[in-house]
Amino acid sequence: MTPTVSKWCLALVLLVAGRCGPTLAQDDFLYGTFPDGFIWGAATAAYQIEGAWNENGKGENIWDFMTHAYDGGISDNSTGDIAADSYNKYLDDVAALKETGVNFYRFSISWSRILPTGRIDQINQDGINYYNNVINALLDNGITPLVTLYHWDLPQPLQEIGGWLNEEVVDIFGDYANLAFSSFGDRVKSWITFNEPWVQSVLGYGYGGNAPRIVGSGQTDYIAAHNQIKSHARAWHIYDDNYRATQNGEIGITLDSGWSEPKTQSAADIEAAERNMQFKLGWFAHPIFSVDGDYPPVMKEYVARHSAEEGFPVSRLPEFGQTWVDYIKGTSDFFGLNHYTSALAEYSVWEGNWTSYDKDQDVSTSADPSWPSSAAPWLKVVPWGFRKLVNWINNEYNGVRLLVTENGYADLGEINDVDRANYYTSYINELMKAINLDGCNIYGYTAWSIIDNFEWAAGYSQKFGLYSVDFNDPARPRSRKYSAQVYAQIIADNGFPAPAEN
Ligand code: GAL
Repeated sequence: MTPTVSKWCLALVLLVAGRCGPTLAQDDFLYGTFPDGFIWGAATAAYQIEGAWNENGKGENIWDFMTHAYDGGISDNSTGDIAADSYNKYLDDVAALKETGVNFYRFSISWSRILPTGRIDQINQDGINYYNNVINALLDNGITPLVTLYHWDLPQPLQEIGGWLNEEVVDIFGDYANLAFSSFGDRVKSWITFNEPWVQSVLGYGYGGNAPRIVGSGQTDYIAAHNQIKSHARAWHIYDDNYRATQNGEIGITLDSGWSEPKTQSAADIEAAERNMQFKLGWFAHPIFSVDGDYPPVMKEYVARHSAEEGFPVSRLPEFGQTWVDYIKGTSDFFGLNHYTSALAEYSVWEGNWTSYDKDQDVSTSADPSWPSSAAPWLKVVPWGFRKLVNWINNEYNGVRLLVTENGYADLGEINDVDRANYYTSYINELMKAINLDGCNIYGYTAWSIIDNFEWAAGYSQKFGLYSVDFNDPARPRSRKYSAQVYAQIIADNGFPAPAEN
């Protein structure tokens, strides 16, 4: 349990329960193990792996609709129609998970597979059966299911009434969540309501690169976020009121965030980096995890000021009102975090008479040219940013229980994926420092992803899997990569025990 590096430092931490640091240089490797009971997992999402897009009663969702459009907006013109065919090959996925030695598997339910119209009046029993089969196969193999209700695949009929721009969807999501709890909650004890509402809002309803491709940055993204936060709270309360006592599970939300490092040590850049954190992570976390609830004060202030300058009669950021603030506050049993990369943030005023979420912040972000790249242009390898981020969350939200629900690396699909293995080793090592040296309250880690899959607007051009999938072979065979062996060893060792001394 005790890291071999810096025992004095650890003792100091135990004394003051504060931050430690200077005795270990930023990128130094730390030998040691994670606390007993730390849990290890791997993740996927329904649209990215299942395929069977219209089989056995499944309805159409916004990604089906988008990828089937004439100009589908996917870099390799692909779709998730078949993807990794996990609808038929889920036992292969379970075998890969078992071989890796994970404690849990994070996957999502396709809303339109169990409710083809999105609404509760038409239940697709085949869809319920499919998830029962997946859950039962996991349990039979000693793997705990962690289920995400919404990983970006809204039923298309709900998009036709405005999707997340229509507040009616809050109740409709509640009905869907209720069905999931009543159907699977006897065996599923850990739920995630939403995966990365930031991405759904900013890319789906702001800049329009993701489904449903609505463009309206600084306006529609704020509304989509508002309704997702309300929907999250609705699902949490349904679970809390009707299921918690009998099912004894827990329910939280997964938020994504990079780390924003000030580009210089000027006061303006330090403030800009903090503001960037509040606009990105605080936007969703502050209403749920902070003592006061509601959006971060700095976000309210900046959007209101920009709105006034642009001639809007009221702020473009919607208001919850006290009843909703109270209803939303405290509605997460854990903090799910997806993290991949970091950025440098600097103070910068964007000129022009247009609205945008980025312009509202008075911040520009960039990557340090020294940071190694990956096959995804946005994903630079910055392990130390992970440690800083989880410390920021720990301080900001009062030592909240945190589960890392995604972390991973993009390449072109090499089997001997040394860069991915190094990414995992260095990021997981930084996470261990955050726990063992800094005292952060983190209880588990999830690799993205167990298998290669449909990487949204990048299609199959970027690979994230610990196992490769041959997308040219109709049988979609899986093969183990080098990184899967490295991750399996980290799990078996519960970290990085020091090599035996001679
Ligand atoms: C996350 C997302 C995953 C996966 C990953 C890699 O934002 O939740 O579905 O695509 O990024 O880009």
